[in-house]
Amino acid sequence: MATTVVIGTQWGDEGKGKIVDLLTGYADVIVRFQGGNNAGHTLVVDGKKFIFHLIPSGILYGNKLCVIGNGVVLDPAVLLEEMDDLAANGMTISPELLKISLNTHLIMPYHKAMDHAREAAKSEGKKIGTTGRGIGPCYEDKIVRNGIKIADLLDPELFRDKLEENLKYKNFLFKELFNTDTISVDEVYGQYQEYAEKLAPFATNVSVIIDDARKADKNILFEGAQGTQLDIDHGTYPFVTSSNTIAGGACCGSGIGPSKIDCTLGICKAYTTRVGEGPFPTELFDETGDQLQKQGVEFGATTGRKRRCGWLDGVVLQEAVRLNGLDGLVVTKLDVMSGISNLKICTSYDVNGRTFKCMPSNIRQTQAAKPVYMDIDGWDEDITGAKSIDDLPVKARNYLKAMEEIAGIPISVVSVGPGREQTMLINNPFEKG
Ligand code: IMP
Repeated sequence: MATTVVIGTQWGDEGKGKIVDLLTGYADVIVRFQGGNNAGHTLVVDGKKFIFHLIPSGILYGNKLCVIGNGVVLDPAVLLEEMDDLAANGMTISPELLKISLNTHLIMPYHKAMDHAREAAKSEGKKIGTTGRGIGPCYEDKIVRNGIKIADLLDPELFRDKLEENLKYKNFLFKELFNTDTISVDEVYGQYQEYAEKLAPFATNVSVIIDDARKADKNILFEGAQGTQLDIDHGTYPFVTSSNTIAGGACCGSGIGPSKIDCTLGICKAYTTRVGEGPFPTELFDETGDQLQKQGVEFGATTGRKRRCGWLDGVVLQEAVRLNGLDGLVVTKLDVMSGISNLKICTSYDVNGRTFKCMPSNIRQTQAAKPVYMDIDGWDEDITGAKSIDDLPVKARNYLKAMEEIAGIPISVVSVGPGREQTMLINNPFEKG
């Protein structure tokens, strides 16, 4: 048995969906522990397309326990829609297969309205480019202790009381500050009581469930959303999401102790992308950037926005290794680099004449960071059919070697295409003795 955390090492969209899908094959329990429906990935199974924002995709197996931890912020409308979509495809989700923490905070209609109103009120350069799903305002209420948990929703009196209190304050802001529509207590109450009835059978203490699974020698996979540089504490603040996206978040966000995590894998795209606003030192504004965007089909899964593209950033990679205590690296989309003759990897930043080997904490310094690059030869061969490292051209192997050297940890998996079979599984965390 093993517990493994999978984390994005960059700004999200590293291809976690595919790797989680692969590792799910070996896992008994899959746990989401932070974020909400700002995340998303698409899986095609037997010709049917499934889009997952909240439920771990492991649900498709029909025999894996899927868990939504307390660290997630949950929009009940989105969850129920996801469940309805699955049901329409013949997969009715039973409470035996899906467990949701009673401590999970709910995204309320006023969180979404606030997310939009705030972004609209910000001037250019200050906008975060959020996904507009109410993620930040929901976490904000949690931290100031005004949040509404599933346990509160299931107590109608407590729920109404909290809702009224919240809306008194929020409606004042909508009306007086943002000049937008106010929200009716009765409407939200009625709607959420319907959700309560549907969610109640799934709500439970997931910390106990995870602990029981661990003691029963089950393999448990913790599925991170977004990426290390979007972490609220360690990312490029304020251009981040509102949760702890790093591996430590798996503990706080699900109720497992740190000593019970056996392995942490970091997913790293062979180049870098970012959606939304914020600093991105290795961003490319030239043809190579366009090429990566097109060859990599870089569009956001949740919002459909075009992703910004750039060279691999070794500073970002080293941050991820340290902040997450990574044991192994999963390199994705190596195939997208084929056909670019001169590759570059950033090894440090020059910030107004000063060398930085780690991310500056001052956002103006991060914005001013000029990447210092090492050059590395590219390759022309199509590598999408490679089955092992030995099948790769020497130059592609050299690129991987450079990544390993910069990271200082071994590569566990290399992905050379979207298909399950286009994956070289060098070291499987669930198959260690
Ligand atoms: P929020 O999470 O909607 O508040 O958005 C905050 C920032 O995180 C924005 O720049 C988003 O584009 C980014 N973001 C949120 N979720 C994801 C994701 O799953 N992948 C990549 N970027 C994300």
